[in-house]
Amino acid sequence: MEIRFRDCPQDRQLGNWTLRIRGSTGFRRLVEIVYSIAPNYQGKGYATEAATALVDYAVNSNQVKTIRAHTFAEFNPSTRVLEKCAFKKIGQVLHSENNLVWRWEKSRPRSTSN
Ligand SMILES: CC(C)(COP(=O)(O)OP(=O)(O)OC[C@H]1O[C@@H](n2cnc3c(N)ncnc32)[C@H](O)[C@@H]1OP(=O)(O)O)[C@@H](O)C(=O)NCCC(=O)NCCS
Repeated sequence: MEIRFRDCPQDRQLGNWTLRIRGSTGFRRLVEIVYSIAPNYQGKGYATEAATALVDYAVNSNQVKTIRAHTFAEFNPSTRVLEKCAFKKIGQVLHSENNLVWRWEKSRPRSTSN
């Protein structure tokens, strides 16, 4: 998918954002979003815009039930992005390399279910 940001020339490499499909079935009930913004462009709202676009894409697909994200186990700009997108912190899990991370989830609103 392509994300067009407001107030930003399209030729800039702002960062990376991904929507990962979890699980092995073709039925995409759980996806994970991942994002990072290049240092020169941080603090301008781009991560919030990218995360919002990923969430909207997942919700509008009508195939996704839960959208998940992981952050370092501390409040930081990344957790703020998720709070602004109405994610809830549901707990902490061991990530690769034995690091504790916080798990965040957002469920698709019932009104858009199929
Ligand atoms: C986390 C990250 C994606 C945020 O991207 P961003 O485009 O700067 O985020 P936004 O501009 O959308 O800002 C989101 C919130 O974080 C806050 N924020 C952003 N940069 C900040 C900073 N350096 N210090 C404090 N708050 C900051 C913003 O003020 C905003 O909160 P607000 O709306 O309450 O003011 C980006 O900083 C990044 O890629 N960092 C390096 C990788 C990283 O830390 N990843 C987290 C792994 S868990």
